Amino acid sequence: MKAHRITLLAACAMAASLSLAQTPAKLKIGLMLPYTGTYAALGIAIENGFRLQIAEQGGKLAGREIEFVKVDDESDPSKATDNVNKLVKRDNVDVLVGSVHSGVAMAMAKVAKDTGTLLIVPNAGADIVTGAMCAPNIFRSSFSNWQPAYAMGEVALKKGAKKAVTITHKYAAGDESVKGFREAFEKGGGQIVKDLSLPFPGVEFQALLTEIASLKPDVVYTFFAGGAAVKFVKDYSAAGLKKSIPLYGAGFLTDGTLDAQGADADGLFTTLHYADSLGTPRDNAFRLAYAKTYKMQPDVYAVQGYDAAQILAIGAAAVKGDLSKKAEFASAVEKAKIDSPRGPFMLSKAHNPVQDIYLRQVTGKENKLVSIAIKGLADPARGCKM
Ligand code: PHB
Repeated sequence: MKAHRITLLAACAMAASLSLAQTPAKLKIGLMLPYTGTYAALGIAIENGFRLQIAEQGGKLAGREIEFVKVDDESDPSKATDNVNKLVKRDNVDVLVGSVHSGVAMAMAKVAKDTGTLLIVPNAGADIVTGAMCAPNIFRSSFSNWQPAYAMGEVALKKGAKKAVTITHKYAAGDESVKGFREAFEKGGGQIVKDLSLPFPGVEFQALLTEIASLKPDVVYTFFAGGAAVKFVKDYSAAGLKKSIPLYGAGFLTDGTLDAQGADADGLFTTLHYADSLGTPRDNAFRLAYAKTYKMQPDVYAVQGYDAAQILAIGAAAVKGDLSKKAEFASAVEKAKIDSPRGPFMLSKAHNPVQDIYLRQVTGKENKLVSIAIKGLADPARGCKM
C-alpha cells in the first residue's frame, strides 16, 4: 500500500514537472501607465503599440505566454512608489514597463535599481534615468528630455531667433526640456529673456500668455504634452500670439493631439524622434498595422510602446525566456539594432536611444518631416557610471 502511494506520488510529481516543461510559466509584465488625466491618451497609445509588437511575435515571448498586470499611475509621483512596489512585491512581475511622467518614472527607476527588477521606460524623458540613475537592468525606448529640446535650440538659432521666452509645466520634464533648449540656444549666442511655468497639470495659461505678449520675444519655446498641449496651442492662437511670435516646441506639443488642435496647430515647427511622413517601408508597415488594429493613427507614443516590446523581445530571446539572467539580457540588447518605425537605432552605454531628431511642421493632421535637425544624437548621460 505504502509503496503504491509513493509510486503514485512520484508519478504525479513527474507529470507536474513534465507539464511544467511543456508550458513554461507566463511572463508577467507590469504595465504602469497613466490611463486617466492629462496624459491618458499617451498611456493608451503606448499600451497599443506594445501589444501590437507582442501580437507580431505570435502573442508570446521566447515561448512564454504573456500576462499583463496593469496599474493606472495617474501621472501622480506621490503614488508612484506604492504602485511600483505592489507590482514588484505583490504581483511578482518579471518586468516593469512604464511610465509617461518623469516624476513617476524616477520612482520606478529607484525601485528597479533597489530590487534589480527589469525596467523598460516607454516614454518619460527624465534625464537622470539614463544619467545618474543608470543601471544594467534599466532601459529606455523613447528619448531623454534633453534630446529634442537641444535640437530645437539649434533650429531656433538657424531660423534667426536671438531672444526666447520659455513656458512649461514646472516638473522634471519641463525643467529639463527648457534646460536642453537653453544649452544649445545660448551656445550659439541666443538669450532666454524669461522662463515661465505653471504647476503640473494646470492649464490656466491666460496670465502667462499676457506676459509673453508684453515681453515680445523672437520665439517661444515650450514643453507641453497630451491634454495640456491641446489647450495650450488653442489658447496661444486665441490670444492672437500665433501670428506674431513663432511657437516652437519639443514635438510632444503636436503629437497625438492634432485632431483636437485643428487649425490652431497648423504650421507649428517642432523637433522629435518621429514624424508622420517618414515614408520608409518599415514605418509604412507599422502605421498600416496600427491603423488596422486600433482604427486610429499611431503617434510617437505608439512607436515607443512598440519599441519597448521589441527591446523586451530581443532580451527575452537571448535568455530563452529566463529574465533572471540580467547580464545576458543586457548584453543582447546592448548589441542590438532596434528596427524601429522611427528608423533603426541602438542604445547608448547608458541604455538611451541614440537617434535622429527630426524637424517637423504641422500640415493638416500630420507632423510632416521637414529635415533631420540632428543626426544620431546621443544624450550626454551626465552622471552615469556604467
Ligand atoms: C515626461 O514627463 O517625461 C514626459 C511626459 C509627456 C511627454 C514627454 C515627456 O509627452
